[in-house]
Amino acid sequence: MADYKIVVSEKLKSQIEDMTLEEIQALIEIPPNKEMGDYAFPCFKLAKLFRKAPNMIAQDIAEKIEVGDGIDKVVNLGAYVNFFVSKGELAEKVIKQIFDEKENYGKSDIGKGKNITIDFSSPNIAKPFHIGHIRTTVIGNALYKIYNSQGFNVIRINHLGDYGTQFGKLIVAYKLWGNKEAVEKEPIKELLKLYVKFHDEAEQKPEMEDEARAWFTKLENGDPEAKELWQWFRDESLKEFQRVYDLLEIDFDSLAGESFYSDKMPAIIDELNSKNLMIESKGTNIVDLEDVNLPPALIQKNDGSSLYLTRDLAAAEYRKKTYDFYKAIYVVGSQQELHFKQLFNVLRKMGYEWYKDMIHVQFGMVALEEGTMSTRKGRVVFLEDVLKQAIDKTREIVKEKNPDAENIDKIAREVGVGAVVFQELSNSRIKDYTFSWERTLSFEGETGPYVQYTHARCCAVKRKANVYISSDIDFNLLTDEDSTDVIKVLESFNKSIVHAMNKNEPHIVTRFVLDLAQAFNKFYHNNIIISDDIELRNARLALVEATRQTIENSLAILGMKSPEKM
Ligand code: ARG
Repeated sequence: MADYKIVVSEKLKSQIEDMTLEEIQALIEIPPNKEMGDYAFPCFKLAKLFRKAPNMIAQDIAEKIEVGDGIDKVVNLGAYVNFFVSKGELAEKVIKQIFDEKENYGKSDIGKGKNITIDFSSPNIAKPFHIGHIRTTVIGNALYKIYNSQGFNVIRINHLGDYGTQFGKLIVAYKLWGNKEAVEKEPIKELLKLYVKFHDEAEQKPEMEDEARAWFTKLENGDPEAKELWQWFRDESLKEFQRVYDLLEIDFDSLAGESFYSDKMPAIIDELNSKNLMIESKGTNIVDLEDVNLPPALIQKNDGSSLYLTRDLAAAEYRKKTYDFYKAIYVVGSQQELHFKQLFNVLRKMGYEWYKDMIHVQFGMVALEEGTMSTRKGRVVFLEDVLKQAIDKTREIVKEKNPDAENIDKIAREVGVGAVVFQELSNSRIKDYTFSWERTLSFEGETGPYVQYTHARCCAVKRKANVYISSDIDFNLLTDEDSTDVIKVLESFNKSIVHAMNKNEPHIVTRFVLDLAQAFNKFYHNNIIISDDIELRNARLALVEATRQTIENSLAILGMKSPEKM
């Protein structure tokens, strides 16, 4: 409740001339329980200044401060001055604002005129789009929506892994054992098989690795056969990825993947040379990073072929030139921490001060119950399968509970996909976790379906009341504890989004909406909403609608839908 804190500090300031407003504000606390008020100011530090016991000072200040401006009671409790917010005024302020701003409630324009690039999802061509990619995909999308809601202009970049030595391997494998129809039928499963087979065989025949490297070099030099195969692998893979993006309703502004930078590499190499940063070491070219205690950054291999890091250097420069970003965010797993440290530090050495605006938003690994995921060993869970199973399971549940529901398929999709997305966003980013079918498909407890169900409940109450929500509301009827609890959560919406944005942690928004759902459900169970008392009914319906709107806005920010019935 930011504004109240300011009001409270101003009131205190009128009695404490020797402290600045900021100093006062920094001392304000939230009392441990509601009976003690909404804000408290400790007077211990004033003892010296006033040459009196803290209790006496608190008593004195409390007596002199005038109520008003949303504060309706000031008392002293021991050495504290405690403030009580006027609950009716709070209800009025919050609900009116939500009704006024509707789907814009929670938004702001603090980011106006600033560009942010978010590099997320970025799967590798010809490899499975598996459960390990879900976090970057949904966290990246939520961050896009979070920044966007605060007025930033966000550019969503899918930095596809569509280049590198693995394409040499794939070309060799395809030429040896490939089958066109099989690839067209199930591109990624088939290409993965070829990739796995390549690794099995290459263990016996290491010369295959040389052959693969040679094919990648051909690709880099524009050999038509290599290019044609590569293009085909890429197109077929993208078709598969697109099915997942469609299910999640995720779009990108740019699909410039690694291959996009292949012709921008020589310029980077030249620049590193001319800035005297390139060092030759055992036939390779590196940038030394000993000044920051990092291993050297490998820029060029002995066969002259370029690397993941080199392509990221080119991408960073390109993005700065093209988008003049205020911040460049990379949503990539914590295994790549060293890679990004090296990337940012090479840019620093190149003299680009904007390296400070680049952020590696990392997240922990997803393991499987059978062990770590391994593309090479073929031990993977496909993201598409997870989403589809979640949808199927939801369809069964809806059919059972509500056999005549219309649009069962739509509900199943919105709730099933929502369940997966919400679960991914509820964990703090950095924790590793083990993927479990059971947990993902459970709708009990603090899950997405629970929040969506609360939204549908609000809609049901509105339908049942079947009256137009009046604008003439007596907000003093919403000052009981249950209502006030809901209103306080509603009021903190924008603060939660901004907090999530500053920490790049969407789970702060999932926490917010869970708190809202819990507070609302308590209010719902303890109170009769469609009361015979018309005034009371109107006031409570207004709270229901304010809650419904705020849940819808929160879920939208997380990349989820809010069905009206389920
Ligand atoms: N394709 C990489 C992977 O799957 C992620 C790329 C992340 N973005 C970047 N600019 N390096 O591991």
